[in-house]
Amino acid sequence: MSKFKTEQEEFWAGDFGNEYTNRNQGTNLIAANTALFSQVLSKTRRISSLIEIGANRGMNLAAIHNLFPELKMDAVEINEQAAAELEALGLGEVYQNSILSFSTDIQYDLALSKGVLIHIDPLLLDKVYEKLYTLSRKYICLVEYYNPVPVEVEYRGNTNRLFKRDFAGDMLDKFPDLTLLDYGFVYHRDNNFPQDDLTWFLLAKKH
Ligand SMILES: C[S@@+](CC[C@H](N)C(=O)[O-])C[C@H]1O[C@@H](n2cnc3c(N)ncnc32)[C@H](O)[C@@H]1O
Repeated sequence: MSKFKTEQEEFWAGDFGNEYTNRNQGTNLIAANTALFSQVLSKTRRISSLIEIGANRGMNLAAIHNLFPELKMDAVEINEQAAAELEALGLGEVYQNSILSFSTDIQYDLALSKGVLIHIDPLLLDKVYEKLYTLSRKYICLVEYYNPVPVEVEYRGNTNRLFKRDFAGDMLDKFPDLTLLDYGFVYHRDNNFPQDDLTWFLLAKKH
């Protein structure tokens, strides 16, 4: 019997996730992520803790560490190999688990998801929205593939593995005390800091 609830979790915990982890590295990616997060996080104030869900080997956390060297950064990552690479960076606590099973009483100033909601079974997405919401004390940052209506697209020859939609809009509808602080787009043809075509959203809890 599988230890996971969904085929998407199996996919990331297994060989595909290992191969992704081997590809997902390099100083250019850390530079591009540093440029991205310097923009995304410029509207935040006094962040002292962060959790990233689906952090892989830490390419976002390494970039954010460049910007906020004092920040405590924990992570949840389903893939064992990726979690081991991340642990070796020594940036914070690494929980090797699916976000669908993970729970904690700890709250963080910022909860981050980059390229992860797009890989969650859409039927269980609400659970992950709730996790992100409860994990966050102040801010939620989503960096995902946007589409105005939910769509599934082929992912590296696989079906039922990649889903685009308005994730931030869903969260703003679901949690009335969330507000949109800022949003933007990063382009794969950016002259200096190319990324996949990602749309980012910074949400805040109204206090
Ligand atoms: C496309 S990668 C993005 C990695 C990282 N966020 C980045 O931007 O470099 C998706 C990551 O989410 C992880 N992941 C996928 N489903 C997950 C789940 N249910 N729980 C925790 N991690 C998950 C994968 O193992 C992988 O590391």
